[in-house]
Amino acid sequence: MGSFYLVRSVLVLWLGFLFVGTLCESQDDSDSITAVYIVTLKQAPASHFNGELRREAHGFKLGAAERLNRFNKPRNVSMSHENPDSYIARLHDSLLRRVLRGEKYLKLYSYRYLINGFAVFVTTRQAEKLSRSGEVANVVLDFSVRTATTHTPQFLGLPKGAWVQMGGYETAGKGIVIGFVDTGIDPTHPSFSDDVSEQSYPVPAHYSGICEVTRDFPSGSCNRKLIGARHFAASAITRGIFNSSQDYASPFDGDGHGTHTASVAAGNHGIPLVVAGHHFGNASGMAPHSHIAVYKALYKSFGGFAADVVAAIDQAAQDGVDIISLSITPNRRPPGIATFFNPIDMALLSAVKAGIFVVQAAGNTGPSPKSMSSFSPWIFTVGAASHDRVYANSIILGNNVTISGVGLAPGTDDQNTMYMLISAIHALNNDTTFANDMYVGECQDSSSFNKDIVQGNLLICSYSIRFVLGLSTIKQALQTAKNLSAVGVVFYMDPFVIGFQLNPTPMKIPGIIIPSPEDSKILLQYYNSSLERDGVTKKIVRFGAVACISGGIKANYSILAPKIMYYSARGPDPEDSFLDDADIMKPNLVAPGNSIWAAWSSLGTDSVEFQGENFAMMSGTSMAAPHVAGLAALIKQRFPSFSPSAIGSALSTTASQYAKNGGPIMAQRAYANPDLNQSPATPFDMGSGFVNATGALDPGLIFDSNYDDYMSFLCGINGSAPVVLNFTGQNCWNYNNSLSGTDLNLPSIAIAKLNKSRTIQRSVMNIGINETYSVGWSAPYGVTLKVAPSRFSIATGEQQVLTVFVNATTNSTAASFGRIGLFGDQGHVVNIPLSVIVKVSYNISNS
Ligand SMILES: *[C@@H]1O[C@H](CO)[C@@H](O)[C@H](O)[C@H]1NC(C)=O
Ligand SMILES: *[C@@H]1O[C@H](CO)[C@@H](O)[C@H](O)[C@H]1NC(C)=O
Ligand SMILES: *[C@@H]1O[C@H](CO)[C@@H](O)[C@H](O)[C@H]1NC(C)=O
Ligand SMILES: *[C@@H]1O[C@H](CO)[C@@H](O)[C@H](O)[C@H]1NC(C)=O
Ligand SMILES: *[C@@H]1O[C@H](CO)[C@@H](O)[C@H](O)[C@H]1NC(C)=O
Ligand SMILES: *[C@@H]1O[C@H](CO)[C@@H](O)[C@H](O)[C@H]1NC(C)=O
Ligand SMILES: *[C@@H]1O[C@H](CO)[C@@H](O)[C@H](O)[C@H]1NC(C)=O
Ligand SMILES: *[C@@H]1O[C@H](CO)[C@@H](O)[C@H](O)[C@H]1NC(C)=O
Ligand SMILES: *[C@@H]1O[C@H](CO)[C@@H](O)[C@H](O)[C@H]1NC(C)=O
Ligand SMILES: *[C@@H]1O[C@H](CO)[C@@H](O)[C@H](O)[C@H]1NC(C)=O
Ligand SMILES: *[C@@H]1O[C@H](CO)[C@@H](O)[C@H](O)[C@H]1NC(C)=O
Ligand SMILES: *[C@@H]1O[C@H](CO)[C@@H](O)[C@H](O)[C@H]1NC(C)=O
Repeated sequence: MGSFYLVRSVLVLWLGFLFVGTLCESQDDSDSITAVYIVTLKQAPASHFNGELRREAHGFKLGAAERLNRFNKPRNVSMSHENPDSYIARLHDSLLRRVLRGEKYLKLYSYRYLINGFAVFVTTRQAEKLSRSGEVANVVLDFSVRTATTHTPQFLGLPKGAWVQMGGYETAGKGIVIGFVDTGIDPTHPSFSDDVSEQSYPVPAHYSGICEVTRDFPSGSCNRKLIGARHFAASAITRGIFNSSQDYASPFDGDGHGTHTASVAAGNHGIPLVVAGHHFGNASGMAPHSHIAVYKALYKSFGGFAADVVAAIDQAAQDGVDIISLSITPNRRPPGIATFFNPIDMALLSAVKAGIFVVQAAGNTGPSPKSMSSFSPWIFTVGAASHDRVYANSIILGNNVTISGVGLAPGTDDQNTMYMLISAIHALNNDTTFANDMYVGECQDSSSFNKDIVQGNLLICSYSIRFVLGLSTIKQALQTAKNLSAVGVVFYMDPFVIGFQLNPTPMKIPGIIIPSPEDSKILLQYYNSSLERDGVTKKIVRFGAVACISGGIKANYSILAPKIMYYSARGPDPEDSFLDDADIMKPNLVAPGNSIWAAWSSLGTDSVEFQGENFAMMSGTSMAAPHVAGLAALIKQRFPSFSPSAIGSALSTTASQYAKNGGPIMAQRAYANPDLNQSPATPFDMGSGFVNATGALDPGLIFDSNYDDYMSFLCGINGSAPVVLNFTGQNCWNYNNSLSGTDLNLPSIAIAKLNKSRTIQRSVMNIGINETYSVGWSAPYGVTLKVAPSRFSIATGEQQVLTVFVNATTNSTAASFGRIGLFGDQGHVVNIPLSVIVKVSYNISNS
């Protein structure tokens, strides 16, 4: 057996796509092979007509059901009324009837708002017919999608900072709607009740979404907090893989992930967090008074499909969400001339055009360079960092050696009492042998053991790869220990499980898991050397090893946080599958994503160890993205007119590069022993840095970009014009001022190929008070840098152009990093990270 780099708790949270490619060319099977296709039409979608006026324009050419839903109360709507017979949907039907005259086909969705198109289940030949139609711009084969706090508000300084500025947690986020495309929600969780004492908590008037009513999601599930809930599974159902007993044909969360992410962003404040009978504090979302709209498109048993995800995004935008939070990333790079051209990123571009801030998880594909799984400049990409709370557990052996481990468990009663250690394999009953149960050491069944031996002692069990795979569980081992009246359980790491990072697991009785194979060996050696065996029979006559467990319920706070987690995906941002880098800095920033406590679905099956619990501790960039979605709600509440890029700018320019101890933020760079393989984080690890909620609400200056800029950027990609036309219906002739990614007005500068020199401009707008800024910078290694002007005064509402001159001085193919800082005399500090790769050789100037 080789080494296993398994990070189950993280992998399970990772929602990935499988890009299957475009139209299949096969001739023979063209009438027999049916598949789901996403068809985009040439005519622009509704959002492009409505533009920024989308809120006022609601009801425009929409069906009766939607008009009704503009009332200020969430509505109970039965499934049969889900697809109102809208004008655009009728056009789609008539196109299909005309092109596929008299043939059989199944239309799954009409996309009306962000994309003008539909998902349809047809044969290969029919798909070809559709693609030849004059009205059709693009036909893409659907692809599969895979499912990849109590304290973080304090760590982010919300109670004394951002929340105070917003009038306290009682109003933080009020009036803002966050849409979640995820595995659904458990509406019965107290984190989503609207049982707030205060009367003035209406459903925002700009939101027009509905709540489905089914048996699992009965009428009354929605309230003034959870204001919209739907599910999208047509593609999955068409393929015959939808399992209604596991996946719930409703917005109900049978997994746990969606309930967790929604509560991180917007869960109620002050909800007591009790797991395995222990109280871990009170939970709160980042914007506890914002509203939640759920668009379920991912499922426990199979993941999901792009056709369903696009339908969910389209509906969220049409309903009027302010923010979309996505813990979804592709599991490989989208094929084609650039990563940006895939149906999901294209729908999100339209969403940004409609004024919606889009947050996406960077992916859990780190730590190797270029592992980034979120690509586009209009999307705000969030990596995962640790926060400062640690639950340290340890075991003190009789030989005075202390070994640290994990486990949200109580300690043994009294630190002065030592208990006998008994290895499970030395406590078998008379009928059990290794021969009939080779996994008996995992303590999954108490009937294998002799209670007389174990009773009153600490049971040693082995933590093997089977736990990682969910075949054995901690819960079951604890039940075994309880049945045998053991005092507690000690899990040692099976030597085959190398580099496995363990999340703290809740335990009802004293317990500890020793994650390090080396430490596990130390425990076993002490245990073995303390055994007394019969000289002749070699049978054990006495167990000599003793120990006590100190317990891991009580949190400690580390000054080494935040730290970039090994699994957080890294830059540079890949532009395509041909090794080219995009001139776009990714991730945009990092936020807490490791060991995050948040709400859990009562029927959530994603994590065995938290099954049946109300809260769960999860890790991944999936957890980091909703932290930023919640903070974005606070920014949107404070600055209602901010564009999506202005919100992103406020978050980015104020991010911090320092850990709590004042040193640089570190980045883990290996799966195995990540804390021994770390070095200061670069912008490819953390983008602008670690999110600073207080700073983001008072950024001073803003870097703004709009839809036309993104279109100019897409049109600037070599040979992209036909693809742009296919995906967006827009002609690149209208965007002849092609912008490279480096020239987009982002609060970062990335130059993927510096040839000699480059001049870059940025434009900032002052949204603060009149202020005079002085400009400082540190040049990346191998380049000289100059910014002009080096000092400027800027009045409220004014703009200032900054020109950045970059000269290469060294041949190098490695990226190097720098920063530009704008330091205002009124206290604002604006940070701009810089990355440069000198890719093209040239003659060095002697300057
Ligand atoms: C654009 O779409 C048409 C119709 O589906 C297709 O034939 C063509 O290959 C596409 N072009 C590109 C560049 O993808
Ligand atoms: C939705 O259902 C709840 C609970 O049954 C009911 O009180 C409420 O009147 C219903 N609302 C609508 C709009 O039908
Ligand atoms: C559906 O899920 C149930 C419950 O997990 C399981 O027993 C059943 O075998 C599944 N059905 C299929 C067809 O996979
Ligand atoms: C937690 O919440 C409970 C009830 O909601 C409250 O009584 C308690 O004071 C809170 N504790 C803290 C530390 O905020
Ligand atoms: C155990 O270790 C501690 C410190 O690590 C030391 O102070 C103490 O004397 C040791 N006790 C024994 C019995 O070795
Ligand atoms: C197991 O076997 C031993 C001797 O072979 C016997 O003394 C003991 O009672 C047996 N224990 C049980 C639980 O049957
Ligand atoms: C614990 O004991 C109960 C009651 O005898 C039994 O049903 C259960 O299977 C046992 N659990 C384990 C893990 O052995
Ligand atoms: C246990 O200790 C004995 C001697 O005390 C040694 O022969 C044996 O190899 C050890 N076993 C393990 C697994 O360390
Ligand atoms: C966050 O921003 C605020 C306001 O600019 C500043 O006072 C604070 O020091 C920043 N915190 C960190 C950790 O950088
Ligand atoms: C870059 O090189 C040019 C030509 O050698 C020189 O005039 C300019 O000052 C240099 N700029 C920087 C920022 O070093
Ligand atoms: C800010 O600057 C503008 C333009 O220079 C000036 O008209 C205005 O009076 C200034 N405001 C304050 C509060 O100083
Ligand atoms: C840089 O590369 C060019 C072309 O390969 C070469 O002529 C030049 O000597 C190199 N300069 C340095 C400092 O290595």
